[in-house]
Amino acid sequence: MGVDVAGDLLAIDGGAPLVTGLPERGLIGAEERAAVLGVLDRAIAAGGAIEYGGPEEEAYCAEFAATLGGGYADAVNSGTAALYVALRALGVEPFTEVVVPAITDPGGIMPVPLLGCIPVVADTAPGSFNCGAEQVEAVMGPLTGAVVVAHIAGEPAPIESIARLAERRGVPLIEDCAQAHGARIGGAPAGSSGTVSCFSTMWGKHHSTGGQGGVVFTRDPDRYRAIRGAADRGKPFGDTQPAGRNYLASLNFNQDELSAAIGRAQLAKLPAAVERRRAFVRALAARLAGVPSVQVPETLDGAEPSWWFLRLRYRAAGGWDKERFCAAVAAEGVPVNPTYAALPATYTWFRERRVFGARGGFPWTAAEYRGDPDRAFPCPNAHAAVAEHLVLPVRESWGEAEAERIAAAFARVDGAARRAAGA
Ligand SMILES: Cc1ncc(COP(=O)(O)O)c(C=O)c1O
Repeated sequence: MGVDVAGDLLAIDGGAPLVTGLPERGLIGAEERAAVLGVLDRAIAAGGAIEYGGPEEEAYCAEFAATLGGGYADAVNSGTAALYVALRALGVEPFTEVVVPAITDPGGIMPVPLLGCIPVVADTAPGSFNCGAEQVEAVMGPLTGAVVVAHIAGEPAPIESIARLAERRGVPLIEDCAQAHGARIGGAPAGSSGTVSCFSTMWGKHHSTGGQGGVVFTRDPDRYRAIRGAADRGKPFGDTQPAGRNYLASLNFNQDELSAAIGRAQLAKLPAAVERRRAFVRALAARLAGVPSVQVPETLDGAEPSWWFLRLRYRAAGGWDKERFCAAVAAEGVPVNPTYAALPATYTWFRERRVFGARGGFPWTAAEYRGDPDRAFPCPNAHAAVAEHLVLPVRESWGEAEAERIAAAFARVDGAARRAAGA
């Protein structure tokens, strides 16, 4: 199987861990330091302040838009804010339904009820963490005001067929690319098919703007103006329109110059980082081919994932359940998680319909909502996919050597589980 499984005693049973000292991501370096100091030095020299909406943000947004083949980007202060801004800028009406993915981060759905809209959950395609067009269409109806689709783990969803569906039904499509910076499908970058696309640039993502951040992207200049307004309390570009400055009620989601400067340095590193993530996953997949208990999933035709994490399908090794197997692999020094349980329909606030006030209910129970406030979203495919997979974070600092060592840890645990079952 191409891996050397040294020693029989598992680390979880008191043996020496097989994998020590896996490199950290090394995300921040001299370039980001210089970028931040540059902003500070310029502010000091000018006797001014660190601002928002300045030259760093302008350059970052132009450079970001260029990575998506041109258009307009607005830097905001989180991925959650990006989705809020997108929905607000699209003018999605309260008490309409917004289709959301069955597997996504809370931030990828929470703005929907906060804007008085009703989240309606589309199941994933069978065996996948992502929705397909069929699952999205199954929950659409006359009340649908928008569709949000995420590319979970950096694996592209079938966005072209979903975009065609949204267009046919006359509703805007929001592409949530929080986990998919640099991913491509059919040759096009993730984020280039939606009416509006959202990114998170918090510290854990492929490229970051420091600790927190996000980006909203569109190709349409009028929509861009609405995005700027929704991100800046309804007064984009310091606007002083004669009809009244504050033409749109919204919140302040501006990103500051320090963050944008970090984002520019990070963006320059993104293509190489994504390539390294892909090379690591290729190397790992080749080695895991000899480990029967874990299987690297097939991705869609034409998909070039950017691998925020790697889901691995678990086939019981011996009689071990996934939790036991993962605990043993983690003890060997590989940071696996037994599950990615990001299922919005199971979140407490969603189940209890409790967003505003202690009693909750709104917006589901509002008289203006003409749908079923108690509609259930069983999402069997999503639950099965979460149950079947374990999750390995991917770091751009990992290469062939780490793939070799990580695969060896999986092989060691797999072998021990099988021997235990045979004993
Ligand atoms: C798919 C998805 N959407 C939205 C978000 C929210 O982004 P943020 O944490 O920057 O608010 C995340 C964060 O991980 C995410 O993974």
